[in-house]
Amino acid sequence: MDIYVDTANLEEIRQAAALGVLDGVTTNPSLISKEGEVDFHAHLKAICEIVPGPVSAEVTATDHDGMVAQARTLAGLAENIVVKVPCTVEGLRACKSLSDKGIKTNMTLCFQPMQALLVAKAGAFLVSPFIGRIDDISGDGMELIQQIRQIYDTYGFETKILSASIRHPMHAVQSALLGADVATIPYKVIAQLMNHPLTDIGLKKFLADWEKIRG
Ligand code: E4P
Repeated sequence: MDIYVDTANLEEIRQAAALGVLDGVTTNPSLISKEGEVDFHAHLKAICEIVPGPVSAEVTATDHDGMVAQARTLAGLAENIVVKVPCTVEGLRACKSLSDKGIKTNMTLCFQPMQALLVAKAGAFLVSPFIGRIDDISGDGMELIQQIRQIYDTYGFETKILSASIRHPMHAVQSALLGADVATIPYKVIAQLMNHPLTDIGLKKFLADWEKIRG
């Protein structure tokens, strides 16, 4: 499973890249706005210079023509930009137009399996089921990952499933077990994935015993 970091913060992206296991980055308008009044395009270029893998950047137009125009501009910023487009009717049309032009898309805000099937038919590179937001309203986000995996495997779709809206380590564990191709994870949660109290206790004991022998 590929690991992306879900942030627009350059320092967090540098820290995640330094781990040596980072495959890409996802941003969205909310994450960009958290960075203050940055120049959107310059900021994206800076991210693409840190991470050579796919960097998702989202359109803000909601109509087909507007989305395609914005997507062309975003895709022109760097070779590794993937354009995020919402799973709406207009977004589906834009996905097909962009795929036909060779522009990679990440179809975002996916909440039900048929959205995933349709965007795969339209040539999406990635689809982003938002599992945490489904759990937030007492649904089962992981069930959506499992359903999309089954549909894609049944029909041989090559669109990659990107588990998004990950809130805690178990979302990442379950995404991996269910065969998500990618998980995009906040930096804090990536760090939590390597934490275990028994690792800390075991290491402390090893070092204490080592000191006894050396003493
Ligand atoms: C990723 O592509 C999404 O934009 C992100 O995971 C959304 O996460 P949130 O539901 O925590 O805002």
